[in-house]
Amino acid sequence: MPDHPTLTSPGRINSLVLPNRIVMPAMDMNLSDGGHVTEREIAHYVARAAGGTGLVIMGTGAVAWPVGATSPHQPAYSDDRYVESLAVLVDAVHAVGGRICPQLCHHGKTAGVDTAEGRPLLVPSVLHDELDLTALQDCTMDELMGLATVTQGKKPTYREATDEDLAWAVEAFADAAGRVQAAGADALEIHAAHGYLLSTFLSPGYNRRTDAWGGSVENRARLVCEVVQAVRARVGPDFPVIVRINGHEYGPDGGVTAADAALQARCIEAASADAIHVSANAHNAFADFTKGSLPATVAQYREFARTVKAAVGIPVIAVGRLVPEQAEAALVAGECDFVAMGRQQLADPDLAGKLARGDAAAVRPCINCYVCVEQNFFDGTPRCAVNPALGHEERAAVVPATTPKRVVVVGGGPAGCEVARRAALAGHHVTLLERSHRLGGTVRFSELTTPDNGRIVRWLDHELGRSTVDVRLGTEASVATVTALSPDVVVVATGAHRPRPTVPGADLPHVRSGDEMKAMITGEGDAKVGFAARAALTVGRALRITDDADRVRSLSKRWMPVGRRVVVLGGSLVGLELAEFLAERGRTVTLVEPGPQVGLPMAMPRRWTAVGQARTLGVEVLRNTEVIEIRPDVVVVRGPEGDERSIPATDVVAALAAPGGDLAEPLRAAGLDVRVIGDAAAVGYIDGAFHTAWDVAATL
Ligand SMILES: Cc1cc2nc3c(=O)[nH]c(=O)nc-3n(C[C@H](O)[C@H](O)[C@H](O)COP(=O)(O)OP(=O)(O)OC[C@H]3O[C@@H](n4cnc5c(N)ncnc54)[C@H](O)[C@@H]3O)c2cc1C
Ligand SMILES: Cc1cc2nc3c(=O)[nH]c(=O)nc-3n(C[C@H](O)[C@H](O)[C@H](O)COP(=O)(O)O)c2cc1C
Ligand code: SF4
Repeated sequence: MPDHPTLTSPGRINSLVLPNRIVMPAMDMNLSDGGHVTEREIAHYVARAAGGTGLVIMGTGAVAWPVGATSPHQPAYSDDRYVESLAVLVDAVHAVGGRICPQLCHHGKTAGVDTAEGRPLLVPSVLHDELDLTALQDCTMDELMGLATVTQGKKPTYREATDEDLAWAVEAFADAAGRVQAAGADALEIHAAHGYLLSTFLSPGYNRRTDAWGGSVENRARLVCEVVQAVRARVGPDFPVIVRINGHEYGPDGGVTAADAALQARCIEAASADAIHVSANAHNAFADFTKGSLPATVAQYREFARTVKAAVGIPVIAVGRLVPEQAEAALVAGECDFVAMGRQQLADPDLAGKLARGDAAAVRPCINCYVCVEQNFFDGTPRCAVNPALGHEERAAVVPATTPKRVVVVGGGPAGCEVARRAALAGHHVTLLERSHRLGGTVRFSELTTPDNGRIVRWLDHELGRSTVDVRLGTEASVATVTALSPDVVVVATGAHRPRPTVPGADLPHVRSGDEMKAMITGEGDAKVGFAARAALTVGRALRITDDADRVRSLSKRWMPVGRRVVVLGGSLVGLELAEFLAERGRTVTLVEPGPQVGLPMAMPRRWTAVGQARTLGVEVLRNTEVIEIRPDVVVVRGPEGDERSIPATDVVAALAAPGGDLAEPLRAAGLDVRVIGDAAAVGYIDGAFHTAWDVAATL
């Protein structure tokens, strides 16, 4: 019996019957070559179709490619010569029982290929609004150069669209629609969201025209409606035509609201669209990308879909971090008819099939880390932190071992758990040694600052629970314990060291290393706190409160053995997260980073949001600043101009990390075949843990 009966029940868009309500929304893969769909791209979509997805929408394609294109690597629909490779994809998806829907777009003000090739960008109105770009100070030079990949660093110019331009655009959409239909696609989606040409016309923020294309809802929707009508005339009455719009625009007042979107949707329905897909966008991607178009909050756009649904009679597709429980609830409440789950299907292509089988716990969860979409900023192929097969589907299947080996894995963090899981699936005999009383490693601690990380720990726990891996908790691995198991291969996954700084005063009692901070909060190891705090933590451990991240998060808002003024040393991902965690709990926090950027290597959009949140919480961020000395009541630092300053501090937290695979050398010296992965090899976070685990599992 499926856990999500409505989500897994059939639905219909025009003539197209879908086996379930699960849609994969468009997500660019940037794998096309010269406008043609490639084998790698086909493998990507086929995996999701085979995984049971009701409707797979392809990453955005350019109707007039290369004109109005956002990438030289997106599919092109501007000429009949592109039909052939698309048809190969369509056939491959059909062969596994799936349905595929190309997404048609003109990228308007973000058509980087136009800028690269010297064409002005087509917009409803030429605006002179200044965007707040302070977020870019936390990008490295490589990242800034990466952001200019498509435009080749050229400055964009803009042109207000004329009536002739718009007639040309309508024709381009209709022609493209004819081609995708000719390729055998099951449906098409017109992209009128996310700040591209059609959505800028819909938006009162971008469209300041006073002619027939601007002003009233009907005028702003005129272009989209003309596109829908022209497409309908080309594809006939039965072919499903979906239109994606913004249900809300984040940013300055004057953008699209849900009420406005509902009126737009009515016009689009009247123009003969078969379904409305309700997304959202942000005016300033550098400030608000994690609100729109990639929301960080679960079910963030649910209310927008609900408002649109109340206004139209055609099916509505909701999107925006809709985890299965929320998706089911939205469907049951009648707020939408279909649910698009994007990143969740990058993380696990078998989402729909697992839900249909009632095996929701087996879905490898997306942890909302934004690693995938960061690649899009560089015109790259998405990489998934927890699914190394994304973009490389040939890696997904585990190759059975010809000669099963005895494998000992040391460390039960994500790296150790994942290598053990993959090795056991291949048929190896795996023993996993973990010194603490539970699996998850440092991610358990990270869950306090980033609750989404907990999802992956629960999944690993579940998967190992039903695997053949012999998990031995509370077991400290040493050369003696490991050699006693006579392994053929040892995988060292012992994580990072989180040391103290090396400056004078680093051994003072109010200075804590990351490991000591972890011990204090998770109850594992030496917490280095006074008597009263030690007693409280002992009770917390005995009651297993420290095992429950939600409770620790909430209780620590009332009490935590940390004084009022905290200096965090090291402004990497971990330092920034800890600084926010402490500031949210009323501490006055200064974050000291020797380099020019903070939040590295958090994926850019998440980093921009995290730095903004830290600022809002009052965290003082000192970049290019060295620590000179720690004294009992102050931390002495030297700023970029050589100026020294004493920062009052009741507590100092060192958020530093170095690879912690020290056990590897003595094990090798004992004659064992040793591999090192995760933070033990190089501090690479959850992404590094999964990717190195797969690399090593494939070589056992
Ligand atoms: C506050 C904080 C927030 C973070 N936030 C994020 C984030 O948002 N995103 C992200 O990607 N990363 C984040 N990280 C980093 C992330 O948690 C680590 O990079 C990741 O857990 C590394 O995985 P691993 O398996 O290599 O090591 P670990 O998770 O550290 O696991 C190592 C395991 O080995 C065990 N072990 C060590 N020695 C032995 C031994 N001799 N015998 C038996 N067992 C042993 C340890 O007990 C531990 O369970 C954060 C870290 C912290 C501290
Ligand atoms: C890597 C990536 C690429 C995306 N590319 C597109 C795109 O080509 N067209 C589009 O309409 N939306 C695109 N999106 C947005 C998704 O369609 C979806 O709306 C968004 O990811 C929110 O859904 P989710 O929270 O379920 O991931 C992209 C998202 C990601 C993660
Ligand atoms: S990279 Fe991160 S956000 Fe993207 S799909 Fe994978 S887990 Fe989710």
